[in-house]
Amino acid sequence: MALPPGPRIPPALQTLNWVVRPEAFMRACRRRYGDVFTVRLAQVGTLVFSCDPAEHKRVFTADPDALRAGEANASLEPVLGERSVLLLDGREHLRQRRLMLPPFHGERLARYEELMREITDRVVDSWEVGRPLKLQDEMQAITLEVILRVVFGMAEGERLEELRRLLKHLLRVATRPIALVPWLRREDVPGPFRAAMRAKAAVDREIYRLIDDRRADPGLDEREDILSMLMLARDEDGEPMTDVELRDELMTLLLAGHETTATALAWAFERMFRTPGVLERLAAEAAAGEETRYADATAREVLRLRPPIPLVARHVRAPFELAGYELPPGVIVAPCIYLTHRREEIYPDPEELRPERFLDVQPDTYAWIPFGGGIRRCLGASFALFEMRVVLQAILSRVRLAPERPADEGTRRRAIVLAPRRGAGAVVAERRERPREPARGAAAVV
Ligand code: HEM
Repeated sequence: MALPPGPRIPPALQTLNWVVRPEAFMRACRRRYGDVFTVRLAQVGTLVFSCDPAEHKRVFTADPDALRAGEANASLEPVLGERSVLLLDGREHLRQRRLMLPPFHGERLARYEELMREITDRVVDSWEVGRPLKLQDEMQAITLEVILRVVFGMAEGERLEELRRLLKHLLRVATRPIALVPWLRREDVPGPFRAAMRAKAAVDREIYRLIDDRRADPGLDEREDILSMLMLARDEDGEPMTDVELRDELMTLLLAGHETTATALAWAFERMFRTPGVLERLAAEAAAGEETRYADATAREVLRLRPPIPLVARHVRAPFELAGYELPPGVIVAPCIYLTHRREEIYPDPEELRPERFLDVQPDTYAWIPFGGGIRRCLGASFALFEMRVVLQAILSRVRLAPERPADEGTRRRAIVLAPRRGAGAVVAERRERPREPARGAAAVV
């Protein structure tokens, strides 16, 4: 049965293109083959890319047993654990997802604003006027701290410092591509996999200790951090999550949530530096306080123009029709975020950063898909958009930033995301201090 057309070069070369120059490769395929095309990647399989919103609707609303998302993430199992919501499918996935959704609801997020601001302020305090910065690293410091304080609910102190240290080490060793190669997964011999598993064991000890302490906390019911809410959640049978599930979901939220959001923020600055009108308007809004519409629209537009994750994947388990082709079991359907967001008829001048596109306009469910879609749509989408808005405004209200070099930054792969090639290089041109409110954020969550 014929699959959609696609490059005829050997899979090894297609893989090389996908790894080394993903954007140019996707664009070339779209130009040559149209809205759906087939790419063959070594170690991954046969992917049918699609960038047609009408087809996305069919994929995202398909029977989850026919199109499976969890299997596509199987290589992350050694770090995330087998109960991770990212890895499960079918009923088990739904149970886990239902338990996790309530704390991520949009209305609940306002309570985290003060703490997010305080964390951002602390990082901005460490910047010196004139000294070059890699904003990707700076944003990552912020988003990691947000996960540890807001999601894990940790208070400042030695325990937080120790877990932060252990997690940084784990993230460094476990996301090296070599640590994920299946046939190198041997714990009995020294090597990258054993190093990753040892780092994981050290993190796990701390996380289980955190869960034990939290359970013993007489004020658990009143706490507002996400771990506490997960511990209080009950499924349809009245059962709570087990400790193993709690541990696996904390690691999942950390891994899925911090580098993605940091990368989106890094791109926001990288693009705004090259679109000064947007930067100025956002800075003026941030200085005035209160108003958030333009910052919200900018966050959405950055995620359109530079989606950190270029595609989502579903494994076909039962024959599935896509754009007139019948896809057999075994292939992977890949709604392509990157190409969908560049459709000229939906987004005129698609390469331009233009927040006005989303000013007071809700993005289309199937044409704006930085968070994927359907029952696998990113659980942290509202959280990420909220955090992006708060962090952008907090930074711009305190400093004027300029690019380290004028030229656009290209893209490079970083673990699971496509990030600015030079790490979003910047310098602080000027401080514009605003009166700082007394720090009350810690009380808001802990
Ligand atoms: C700008 C930042 C982010 C981007 C671009 C992003 C993107 C994505 C994408 C593309 C998916 C897969 C969706 C699909 O297969 O249809 C996903 C899933 C997920 N994301 Fe995010 N994400 C971000 C931030 C976050 C944050 C902050 C959290 C939590 C703290 C989070 C937690 C998750 C989880 C748990 C899943 C799995 C959902 C499931 O399988 O049911 N993400 N994300």
